[in-house]
Amino acid sequence: MDKDEIFNKRIDYISDFNFDEKVAAVFDDMLYRSVPFYQEIQRMIVEMAVDFAVEGTHIYDLGCSTGTTLFNINKAIGDKVKYIGIDYSEDMLDKCRKKLSENHFQGEYELVCEDLNKGIYAENASVIIMILTLQFIRPLYREKLIESIFKGLNSNGCFILVEKVLGEDSLFNRLFIKYYYDLKREKGYSELEITQKREALENVLIPYKLLENRELLLNQGFRYCDVFFKWYNFCGMVAVK
Ligand SMILES: C[S@@+](CC[C@H](N)C(=O)[O-])C[C@H]1O[C@@H](n2cnc3c(N)ncnc32)[C@H](O)[C@@H]1O
Repeated sequence: MDKDEIFNKRIDYISDFNFDEKVAAVFDDMLYRSVPFYQEIQRMIVEMAVDFAVEGTHIYDLGCSTGTTLFNINKAIGDKVKYIGIDYSEDMLDKCRKKLSENHFQGEYELVCEDLNKGIYAENASVIIMILTLQFIRPLYREKLIESIFKGLNSNGCFILVEKVLGEDSLFNRLFIKYYYDLKREKGYSELEITQKREALENVLIPYKLLENRELLLNQGFRYCDVFFKWYNFCGMVAVK
């Protein structure tokens, strides 16, 4: 795994964060060191996907990046479903294609380069997963995207959503962010890296509150919605159609 050193030198003009070739090259390390309990989140998602996956249906990963989630689910479920990864970064999809083809991926899969701001066309889905990606979708388009996800799911299919979230009030919000930056320091990121990345993400990563995301899901008609993971400003939710 190549080390994430994207922000370790002073950058004079910090442009908006994007998922280009440089980021794709170190992305697995970036996620591992920037997302609290990333491996446990992956384990839980696989566990839930195993229970909701139905033979002959499709599993979608929206914002699939380098394919870690598709790969982990495939190890547990194998070829009884078709896997579809969607991402708008060709660089991420190249990495994903390489990971899947070099690691004995079983069964049929398709990687699609598409902008999720336009919604998705999904069909026959038993599981749709979206990890740390809704936060990059323009707020104006989030409702439509969730509507298209709901439409593409079969009855009793599940939607698994992991997001960075805002605290319910500014006190918790400040504290949670402080604890999060402490964790990044523990994982080896310097003050400069933390500050420059925060600046780069400022206009592109727009988190909602947990309850706002929950409402977004319930308003589209999901029958059940629960929180399966919470660590300060990170939250995993699962909803069933
Ligand atoms: C934080 S990463 C997701 C991590 C990944 N789900 C995982 O757990 O390994 C966000 C991903 O969403 C993609 N993305 C961001 N905005 C997008 C959009 N509008 N349409 C499609 N993909 C998008 C990025 O290219 C990136 O690969």
